[in-house]
Amino acid sequence: MTTEQILKALSTVDDPDIKKDLVSLNMIKDVTIEGNKVAFTLELTTPACPMKNVIKNNCIEAIHNLVDAQAEVDINITANVTSSLTNLGPNLPKVKNFIAVASGKGGVGKSTVTSNLAVALAQAGAKVGILDADIHGPSQPVMFGIEDQKIGMSEEDGKNWLLPVQRYGVEVMSIGFLTPPGSAVVWRGPMASSAIRQFIGDCKWGELDYMLIDLPPGTSDIHLTLVQSLPITGAIIVTTPQKVALADAEKGLAMFKQEQINVPVLGVVENMAYFTPEELPDNKYYIFGRDGGKRLSAMNDVPFLGEIPLVQGIRVCGDKGVPAVLKEDVTGESFRELAEQLARQVAIRNSTQQASKAVPVQ
Ligand SMILES: Nc1ncnc2c1ncn2[C@@H]1O[C@H](COP(=O)(O)OP(=O)(O)O)[C@@H](O)[C@H]1O
Ligand SMILES: [Mg+2]
Repeated sequence: MTTEQILKALSTVDDPDIKKDLVSLNMIKDVTIEGNKVAFTLELTTPACPMKNVIKNNCIEAIHNLVDAQAEVDINITANVTSSLTNLGPNLPKVKNFIAVASGKGGVGKSTVTSNLAVALAQAGAKVGILDADIHGPSQPVMFGIEDQKIGMSEEDGKNWLLPVQRYGVEVMSIGFLTPPGSAVVWRGPMASSAIRQFIGDCKWGELDYMLIDLPPGTSDIHLTLVQSLPITGAIIVTTPQKVALADAEKGLAMFKQEQINVPVLGVVENMAYFTPEELPDNKYYIFGRDGGKRLSAMNDVPFLGEIPLVQGIRVCGDKGVPAVLKEDVTGESFRELAEQLARQVAIRNSTQQASKAVPVQ
């Protein structure tokens, strides 16, 4: 066996999502051969790749079919998260993908989905942050159990920096840290927008693969501030299957698709898709209607990312500050699958569409 033969065989294997072969995509590294043993590194576009095993098996099959049926194949899987952002400039955090999490209505589970997606991506091995931009009801401090944290500061390069709080492998910065719990601070539009700009420009974020931005419901000044200040990779829309939620979700979706804003919609998440009692997981009650999120995504020609059931444990976990995805049960699994579908759509978007830009909006 030679390295050339191995690369030639692997050049017949496509990344199923990007639809180009692994060798052209530069995903095969460090091929070594010893007798009938071949080893190489497969560098995926995300550690949360749902196609991991399919790609791996296709590589083994190609080598067996085209090079040597007896070869022992040892594949070391790593990931280097892709980005469509080339030049972020000095005033933006070093983030490969900015993902806006939006909804039409409040209370549909946007913050719950954000916190669980972030922890799932971090558990898969990605570097993740959450920017909680929901001025009406910042929930991330409670959902991460960090509501009593004071924002840390550090002085560097003659500048005072805000430090995000780290929990469950995720960096969190929230507008909620700026207001004492239980107080009724009314953020006027410009004040809220300038706080959000500070979270972007004056916060010491690490180098992140994904930053999830928990937006206020609907469409507001904050949405405009964000698309003006950040090159958003894409948005996800959270909705329940209920008619009134869907109507509002559609407006949210339309906002991102507007010509001046033009943020790709990465997909729709259907939350509270059905109620299920934890002790009887096969019993499903479609209390808010059925498949509304799927229809919304089909009608607007955007991907359907997945559904999350309404389970008491998800609410309890959110209130306790321990995201439900940390549990090894079916609920945790539904969030892990959702995170994989999101990571997959980000990779597809990065391979097929132009770089994102911050947009000037009047
Ligand atoms: N799938 C779910 N199962 C059970 N409770 C949920 C689920 N999703 C959200 N919740 C609960 O519903 C309430 C509203 O969710 P939240 O994430 O704060 O919504 P939003 O951010 O859209 O306003 C919270 O109490 C949350 O714990
Ligand atoms: Mg919220």
